[in-house]
Amino acid sequence: MINKPKGTYDVLPGEAKNWVKLESTIRRICEIFNYKEIRTPIFEASGVFHRDEGDTSDMVTKETYDFKDRGNRDITLRPEGTAGIVRAFIENKLYANNPINKLFYLGPMFRYERPQKGRTRQFSQFGVEVFGSASPLVDAEVIALGATVIKALGLKGVKVKLNSIGDSESRANYRQVLVEYFEQYKGELCSDCLNRLEKNPLRILDCKVDNQKPFFLNAPKIKDYLNEASKQHFAEVIKALEAMHIDYEIDDNLVRGLDYYSHTVFELKVDVLEFGAQNVIAGGGRYDNLVKDLGGPQTPSVGMAFGLERLLLACELSGKSLARPDYLHVFFIALGEDARKASLAQMNICRLGGLYADMDFLGHSLKAQFKIADNNRAMFTCILGDDELKDFKINIKNNETDEQETISLYDVYPYIINKINSKSACSSCKEKEVK
Ligand code: HAM
Repeated sequence: MINKPKGTYDVLPGEAKNWVKLESTIRRICEIFNYKEIRTPIFEASGVFHRDEGDTSDMVTKETYDFKDRGNRDITLRPEGTAGIVRAFIENKLYANNPINKLFYLGPMFRYERPQKGRTRQFSQFGVEVFGSASPLVDAEVIALGATVIKALGLKGVKVKLNSIGDSESRANYRQVLVEYFEQYKGELCSDCLNRLEKNPLRILDCKVDNQKPFFLNAPKIKDYLNEASKQHFAEVIKALEAMHIDYEIDDNLVRGLDYYSHTVFELKVDVLEFGAQNVIAGGGRYDNLVKDLGGPQTPSVGMAFGLERLLLACELSGKSLARPDYLHVFFIALGEDARKASLAQMNICRLGGLYADMDFLGHSLKAQFKIADNNRAMFTCILGDDELKDFKINIKNNETDEQETISLYDVYPYIINKINSKSACSSCKEKEVK
């Protein structure tokens, strides 16, 4: 009997539906954010990934599947999406059509790693790449998109860890200080780090072997060497995240495992014990020089990728079914024919905005309609009679707190969105944040 190759897995019939559901949730969110799909080959000319002699990332130096094809060409199975998409961006001159390209992709990647829970040799990524804008708001938008995927799946305990590794000038200043610092500990560095000390000292901070040792933890921090422009870029990213109520933690030691980053770097980590070491479900950052390095025009860029297996594992561990949630954001109770029509119109606005909404179409009594709202686990109930309608008002009840307010008929949608997204929203509402 021939078995599957080490580090691969089969998606069996009972499991395939979870993949389809996950992918369709992701696609819907990308549409909402106006990202367009791109599909690139699963293998590329090796030079797309093995660009630079000085590259020190494990992924590029140790983990790629490289081979010669029958025409003696050097080929590499893609270990990630970014570099291949940059190649496609340049080759197809996407920059000529649009000043900004917001792209997403889904598909298999290949890394020759030691397999363990959450780590396989063939795995799938969902990623986004934005080409053409240096604005820190785009860094924040990409993180917001990631946070929206997490919310849409109902996952809890996910943290956004954030750092800035600055622009080239800041990194050059820091590099010098870091080399001087680690030179003192040369005898204690692992062989990989000795190599990194020469080629890319920043990556020493990413060492999986020694990074908890005191001499690592006491190493100089890049934040103290950022120039003004880099500091400002990072401050703007943070402001934008705060404006969107996205929680984050700054992690001074976060540098990420790939060599192409500049400015913002981030990771989404699951805080669940069972997840073990592979608790990073997504990672990304800005890479303002990669397009130029691969032969294209200077193009500021930023992106992120999720591991889909880890996302599915996180859903499974937190008992989240990928089926449609069993609640409504709002149920409309209408009394009278005019009120029913007006409710239908407001309900439609809520639905267009992505809220789960419904109303009674069978002319049930007031009491029965309340019961239906309850059975549907509605977070809010809107009650409209002909009297309120005359004043263009509507009553809205928060079913968690039993608070009731009379608001403008036209404010139902923003009212619910604000309640759900505001920091002061009740705990169970927060669990059900808007997708
Ligand atoms: P990365 O951090 O190497 O970044 O990978 C992104 C995600 O892919 C990880 O957070 C993890 O969930 C998943 N992943 C990586 N390796 C494995 C594996 N062996 N088995 C299972 N899952 C894995 C990148 O790939 C960058 N291209 C992200 C990016 C896009 N940066 C800018 N744009």
